[in-house]
Amino acid sequence: MPSTALSLLTVALALVSPILGDVLPRADSSAFLPTLSNNSAAAWPPPYANGGYAWTSAFTRAQSLVSQMTLEEKVTLITGQPGRCVGMTGAVPRLGIPALCLEDGPAGVRPVQGVSQFPAGQAAAATWDRELIYKRGYAMGKEFYDQGVNVALGPVTGGPLGRSPRGGRNFEGFFDDAYATGEAAYMTVRGMQDSGVLATAKHYIGYEQETYRDPFNQSESYDVFPVNEQTPISSNIDNKALHELYMWGFAEAVRAGVGYVMCSYNEVNQTHSCANAYTLNNLLKGELNFQGGVMSDWGGDWGDAEFINGGLDMSMPGVGFGGIFGPFWGQNLLPYIANGTVTEGRVDDAAIRTLTPWIFSNQPAYPPPAVTWNADPQYYETEDAYWRDVRQVETMTLIRQIGEDSATLLKNTNNALPLGAPKVIAIVGSDAGPNELGELDGGGSNAYPGWNLNGTLTLGGGSGWAIPPYVVTPYEAINYRGRALNSQVYAIFNDTAYDAVNVTVPSANVAIVFVSAFTREGEDRATLYLDNDADTLINIVAANNNNTIVVMNAGGPILVEAWIDNPNVTAVIAAHFPGQEAGAAITNVLFGDVSPSGKLPYTIGYSLDDYAPDTIVATPVLQPQAYFNESTLVDYRWFSANNITPRFEFGYGLSYSTFAYSNISVESVFWPDTTSVQQTHEPFEAWDGTNSIYDIVAQVMAQVQNTGDVRASETAQLYATFPGSPGIWLRGFDKLKGMAPGETRAASFPLRRKDLSLWSTERQLWYVPEGEIQLQVGASSTKLYLATSLSH
Ligand code: NOJ
Repeated sequence: MPSTALSLLTVALALVSPILGDVLPRADSSAFLPTLSNNSAAAWPPPYANGGYAWTSAFTRAQSLVSQMTLEEKVTLITGQPGRCVGMTGAVPRLGIPALCLEDGPAGVRPVQGVSQFPAGQAAAATWDRELIYKRGYAMGKEFYDQGVNVALGPVTGGPLGRSPRGGRNFEGFFDDAYATGEAAYMTVRGMQDSGVLATAKHYIGYEQETYRDPFNQSESYDVFPVNEQTPISSNIDNKALHELYMWGFAEAVRAGVGYVMCSYNEVNQTHSCANAYTLNNLLKGELNFQGGVMSDWGGDWGDAEFINGGLDMSMPGVGFGGIFGPFWGQNLLPYIANGTVTEGRVDDAAIRTLTPWIFSNQPAYPPPAVTWNADPQYYETEDAYWRDVRQVETMTLIRQIGEDSATLLKNTNNALPLGAPKVIAIVGSDAGPNELGELDGGGSNAYPGWNLNGTLTLGGGSGWAIPPYVVTPYEAINYRGRALNSQVYAIFNDTAYDAVNVTVPSANVAIVFVSAFTREGEDRATLYLDNDADTLINIVAANNNNTIVVMNAGGPILVEAWIDNPNVTAVIAAHFPGQEAGAAITNVLFGDVSPSGKLPYTIGYSLDDYAPDTIVATPVLQPQAYFNESTLVDYRWFSANNITPRFEFGYGLSYSTFAYSNISVESVFWPDTTSVQQTHEPFEAWDGTNSIYDIVAQVMAQVQNTGDVRASETAQLYATFPGSPGIWLRGFDKLKGMAPGETRAASFPLRRKDLSLWSTERQLWYVPEGEIQLQVGASSTKLYLATSLSH
């Protein structure tokens, strides 16, 4: 018997059919592959796992376990069950298989106390420091494991990628760039899994807006239609952008050996991404050769047979979580198996994919401790929920260091920073102080009432929030420092107390304004402006003090035109979402204990109109459609291809020192791939049966000298321009850390075959374009001081 959801889906598809003419609006419609009519498991059959290159014995063990299971046990295993964690797999006790605990999120364990609140992924990205990103992954992963979590629901590896600057969840991911997101995804997955927990790369794929992401049960603010009537936003993405942008980070996560992938809420080219045979069966399990389990996002599964046949392996939260996301899978699969719509082979494969990463992780021999807390909101603040404190002392230092090294200095007139020892310091803004409601009143997801000003904004809201064990506010840290320096420190936490500003600020030697822009899961940002009319606050402070410094805590680009050129605004820092050590980190930067070395992981334009148009679709229709018409021209690529001058470009960030670039060179090399834990099957032109698209085939080197007089770090960046293809592509970065004054160091950029390739939609493979590939090196996406080229 078809489930309700199946018939609803059929109705939805029938509704879509009459507008099929609208489905492919582009001149080059062949670029959109595949269309609604051919996206099925018949066209793209599910490849069965075989363990790939790294998991052969785990796969064999999983296969043997599954062969001993009854059908009921198998469907229970792959369907979410009620339990303490936000997601639980089904246990098969007679075979020694426990229920696996799946828990959020990408910046720490949520919603549990006794854990750290790490900097957001975007803040980690702003460090451009692979080693720190790995360490963050490891430290975070260890806390998951120590809290009893088997599978962490992170990192965000390119869904969202930041196509829209207003995207509500961009802060959870890394860079608005495929390559750099891939680097961060790889390091984070390696770090997390080295610590013992399994990681989940999410949200696959094309998940670029919150609006209309999952109108299933009317639980989100954008819901206007009755339950189930509206389909999720369809991300209509051409095949080139799918490969060159949106898959890239997932390819790196798969290569790093990620255990699980979470499919996203949205549709891709008008098929639910969790039932999308093309993107799951063909791309993820075929091209990327992913051997682990695909789990649905919580409510991303809207049906039974077509979802498991379309490549979904684990229906989450299944029959758990109070059943608010529908009655899918479990016993519902049995009739489909009986009538042959779903083969038992497919169910076996899904069960094997669920178990293999777990077996490979060694958790069967070294299981995490029992879960003592409860993620269900109705329990986690009660006595049923107690928690261990799993924090390590050194993690505080790591978090602080990421905060310091992500701080991105945007403006610094006449060396306003570092501060020295000001006699009088004025601190202004709610973002400088604590949350007046405390740290636990946000429902475990930073969901405070609208009137609450958050206090210093250390992380965005939703499942990407983690409860901080404490927050070091900027006020606390600066006040403490001020005492040591014999300064006077005055603070105003009210964002509209202009009279108090007029009294307090004029006599200060420096006025530091702390401002923020809140962003969270489930909603896109309404504008790119700061919250609480901070533009006015900044200008009023600046009118009273000619040494006004602005610190912004935000989860994406902020429009700064209202005050950036005000001569009294002498310095500006984008401090991102730095986690629990926010104040300690920014204070160390402001006072020059460390020179800032963060660089923007996104572009700041002069106005929203500078970015690609219409990247958030909010028209209330039954089948909302987002056409990714800018194709691969996202963020700096849009700016560079369209000759739009950004206010602060991708990759930009000042230092207390200066750097000179010289002596670029390029050589062909051949260093076989040694970094793929699992190997992908991405098709490429030069394949000879033994080589890999991840072999390093060229290396660019350049000299960077610290020409200033303080020790400082610099991230040199390499951008490629391909013949006949618009825009530049980031294809390498090297953070040269702690360079002494006068010191010269070599930046190196190993280039893998894939880094020199583009995707051919016609030939369905990666190829190195004929002609000259320009390779430019510099300090940001527009400050490219050196150039060389490679010919093919
Ligand atoms: C929905 C979010 O999109 C996802 O990231 C999260 O892991 C699940 N909810 C579970 O909380």
